[in-house]
Amino acid sequence: MLVAATDTTAATTVWAMTALLKNPRVMKKVQEEIRTLGGKKDFLDEDDIQKFPYFKAVIKETLRLYLPAPLLVQRETNEACIIDGYEIPAKTIIYVNAWAIHRDPKAWKDPEEFSPERFLDITIDLRGKDFELIPFGAGRRICPGMHMAIASLDLILANLLNSFDWELPERMREEDIDTEMLPGITQHKKNPLYVLAKCRI
Ligand code: HEM
Repeated sequence: MLVAATDTTAATTVWAMTALLKNPRVMKKVQEEIRTLGGKKDFLDEDDIQKFPYFKAVIKETLRLYLPAPLLVQRETNEACIIDGYEIPAKTIIYVNAWAIHRDPKAWKDPEEFSPERFLDITIDLRGKDFELIPFGAGRRICPGMHMAIASLDLILANLLNSFDWELPERMREEDIDTEMLPGITQHKKNPLYVLAKCRI
């Protein structure tokens, strides 16, 4: 429970900040939305965040490109079955390559681009009903902490973006931020992300 909950949420937070710092246009747009619609509150709560469609799209786009469990959790077949003409014997270990599904050009236009706008005019959701986007898995073994994860990510990220302006260290440019990953069940950023936080108020 501890690893499944904390590691994934922490990794996703770092990936979201990485993607936003690499894409200043998106950073500006999402901060403008949060600061305009959120009023002048010091702390944004769950109700405030439901009013931020672009921010919600940023979370989806982060979990599309940087899903923390790229192969979900492996499964084993109970009995033999046939999928797409392939015979899968009983007791076969199955990995679902969600990373590849999330970057499949048949499902996504310009799949490598970080573009939250793509979610503004489509209804694809990440809660396991749309198989193009399954950062929490799907079916009976879907992540049982999904709702807590989404609520935590909402609160952490919206408040980081509301309270601080974020800058790169001197002489560092957006293109210098790497997206290399560490191997492991949870996909963490390999090299630490260096940023300067300036309190907005
Ligand atoms: C961004 C955050 C998170 C992501 C992306 C995530 C993703 C996943 C995925 C992909 C699975 C495997 C599902 C499958 O194979 O179909 C999983 C399983 C699991 N998750 Fe999460 N998770 C997150 C946060 C959490 C949180 C906050 C909790 C608990 C409070 C949690 C608890 C679990 C547990 C216990 C399992 C194993 C379930 C089983 O074996 O049936 N996760 N998670």
